[in-house]
Amino acid sequence: MKVSVKVPATTANIGPGFDCFGMALPIYNTVTLEETVYPTNGLEINILGDQDEGISGFLIPTDKTNIVYKAVELLYNYTGQTPPALKINIQSNIPIAKGLGSSASVIVGGVLAANELLGNPADEDVLLSIANEVEGHPDNITPAMIGGFTLSSAEDDGSIIYKKLEWPDNWKLTICIPDYELATTISRSVLPENISLKDAAFNGKRCAMFIDALHTKDAELMKLALADRIHQPYRSRLVPGFNEIMTSLKDIDNVMGAVLSGAGPSILVISKNNSIESIKNNVKSVWEGLGIKADIRTVSVDTKGAVIL
Ligand code: HSE
Repeated sequence: MKVSVKVPATTANIGPGFDCFGMALPIYNTVTLEETVYPTNGLEINILGDQDEGISGFLIPTDKTNIVYKAVELLYNYTGQTPPALKINIQSNIPIAKGLGSSASVIVGGVLAANELLGNPADEDVLLSIANEVEGHPDNITPAMIGGFTLSSAEDDGSIIYKKLEWPDNWKLTICIPDYELATTISRSVLPENISLKDAAFNGKRCAMFIDALHTKDAELMKLALADRIHQPYRSRLVPGFNEIMTSLKDIDNVMGAVLSGAGPSILVISKNNSIESIKNNVKSVWEGLGIKADIRTVSVDTKGAVIL
């Protein structure tokens, strides 16, 4: 038996919602899991992609330490079994190490495909919790699995508390992907162990504004809400041009703001419909001045999440 699952990319944090807010984007990886008798060591993993650079730059293990296999194994263990001989194909279209949730997407693909192979023993809560055990970032895992804008929290017992909220149709997402990679481990290593009470309170207030702005579709409030003092100030030195891009977008009509996508280095710009060309030109010109090429795409939120094909 063979199962394929198509899973979206994600953008996490979205300004003030560090380790909590996330959103699914319409760029997809597909994970195919096949029970087979062939691989002599019980496992064959093939990675197929249209982004050779990313794949060669980050050596992805193809043995039992692979994150997709780990997620599959955890789900089999949950049912009291060990995985049979498996062939795993990963069609990788989400750029790797760009802050777009490529790891979360393949982990979610693996866990959902395994669940389907096993006859669906696990519900959504269990699947999220298992996927998060491998990935560690529920703000990527949750939107990858269920789509849309989500908030999520990994609790001490391993469970995930999550909510999916409606994202206004005319709030567009322009994702600016630079031509260099940044591993999440490096991007987390520059964050301080402790932050000040003032900065914690600042982000708490911004999160509250963000959620109200979403509910009331209030673009002016969202403009204020997109500020962050917990992670971006520390990470901006790893993303040349980030502060200049933020400044250069400030005066464009209908732009609500720009934020680091996940741990970076991609930048997400949130705007209403009609400023897309100016956004692209501004981002391009800052990065080109620094010798950085960029892939810039304007997209709508993916509302479906992972889909069994
Ligand atoms: N919230 C996580 C971080 C996302 O910013 O480190 C990692 O993809």
